[in-house]
Amino acid sequence: MAILVTGGAGYIGSHMVWTLLDAGEDVVVLDNLCTGHEWAIAGQAHFVRGDIDDPAIIERITNAHDIEAVIHFAGSVVVPESVADPIKYYRNNTCATLALVDHCLKAGINRLIFSSTAALYGAPEEAPVAEDTPLAPLSPYGTSKLMIEQMLRDIAATGALHYVALRYFNVAGADPHQRTGQSTDGATHLIKVACEAATGKRPGMSVFGTDYDTADGTALRDYIHVSDLVNAHYLALQHLRIKPESFTLNCGYGHGYSVYEVIDAVKRLSGNDFPIQLGQRRVGDSPRVIADNTAILEKLDWQPQYADLDLIVQHALDWEKHLAQRNMGAQEGVS
Ligand SMILES: NC(=O)c1ccc[n+]([C@@H]2O[C@H](COP(=O)([O-])OP(=O)(O)OC[C@H]3O[C@@H](n4cnc5c(N)ncnc54)[C@H](O)[C@@H]3O)[C@@H](O)[C@H]2O)c1
Repeated sequence: MAILVTGGAGYIGSHMVWTLLDAGEDVVVLDNLCTGHEWAIAGQAHFVRGDIDDPAIIERITNAHDIEAVIHFAGSVVVPESVADPIKYYRNNTCATLALVDHCLKAGINRLIFSSTAALYGAPEEAPVAEDTPLAPLSPYGTSKLMIEQMLRDIAATGALHYVALRYFNVAGADPHQRTGQSTDGATHLIKVACEAATGKRPGMSVFGTDYDTADGTALRDYIHVSDLVNAHYLALQHLRIKPESFTLNCGYGHGYSVYEVIDAVKRLSGNDFPIQLGQRRVGDSPRVIADNTAILEKLDWQPQYADLDLIVQHALDWEKHLAQRNMGAQEGVS
C-alpha cells in the first residue's frame, strides 16, 4: 500500500514525504512543479509530474500503485496573489480539489488528509481561536479553502469519504536534518523573509504595523515548526487507518511570538543585523492569531518536539544558507 502526497515537491509536502519514508511507508508524489522543485522530492519516492485534477494521471497512478490514502498539499498559497487573481485560487484550490477527490473516490481511495489554514478565521476577535469559532476568511485564498472544507464535510456525510482537515497556523522552520526546507522564490512568510535578509538575499525587510495592542506593538502569530506539522499529518493518517471518521483540527502551539521577537531571534542567531523599514498595518491583519490546540493534543495525542522559536529560526537559517550554496553551485554549473 502507498500514500499519495499531492504537492510533495513543495515546502510542506517535501517534509511530509521524508517523514513517511522515515516511517517505512511507500510514497507517490503528484506535483506539477508550478512552485515546487523536483530536487526537493526524496529520491525513494515515486514521482509523477502532473495536475491533481487530471483524471488520466490519477488513473495512471492508481493503476500502478495500491494507494490507501491521499495527503493533499497541492494548491496555490499566496494570499495577496489570491486577491489579485481570485479565479486562479478557486480553480487551482477549490475546483482542482473537487476533481481530485472525485477521481480518487472513483478509484476506491476514501481517506484524505487536507491542508487547511488559519486564514479561515480571518481576523479572529479571540485568542486562542478554537475550531468552532465562526469562519470569516478575508481573502479568496481563505475562501477557496473554506469551500473545500465544506465540500469534504458534505461528501463525508454520505459515507463515501473519511478525512482530516488540518488548519495550519504559521508554518516555519526546516527539516532538522536539512534534507529539505522552504525553497519557494518570493515567499512572503515572516521567518523566511527575515532569514533571507539575514543571509543577504534581500537588503532588508518591512514590519507592517507597530501600533497594535500587544506588548511591543507588533502582531502576534503562532509559528509551528514544519516537522511537528507533518508529524500531525502522520498521526492523522494512523488514526484514519484505525477509525473511519472525519474531523477538523487546528495545528499550532497555542502561543505566539511578535514580529519584533521573530526579527530579534533571526538577528541574534545569525549574528547579522539588517535594516528594518516600519510600515502601516496591512488591511485585514489581526493583532493576534493563536491556535487553541486542545483538540489536536487530545484527538491525535500530538506531542510537538520543536515548539521553540530559536529552534525554528535556527533550522530556517541553516536551510537558507544551504539554499544559497545550492543556488550558487547551480549558477556556477551554468556558466
Ligand atoms: N505554508 C504555510 O504557512 C501554510 C499555511 C496554511 C496552509 N498551507 C497549505 O499547505 C499546502 C502546502 O503549502 P506550501 O507552503 O508547501 O506551498 P508550496 O507552494 O511550497 O507547495 C505547493 C505544491 O503544490 C504544487 N501544485 C500546486 N498546484 C498544483 C496542481 N494543480 N497540481 C499538482 N501540483 C500542484 C506546487 O508545484 C508545489 O510543489 C497548501 O495547500 C497551502 O494552502 C500552507
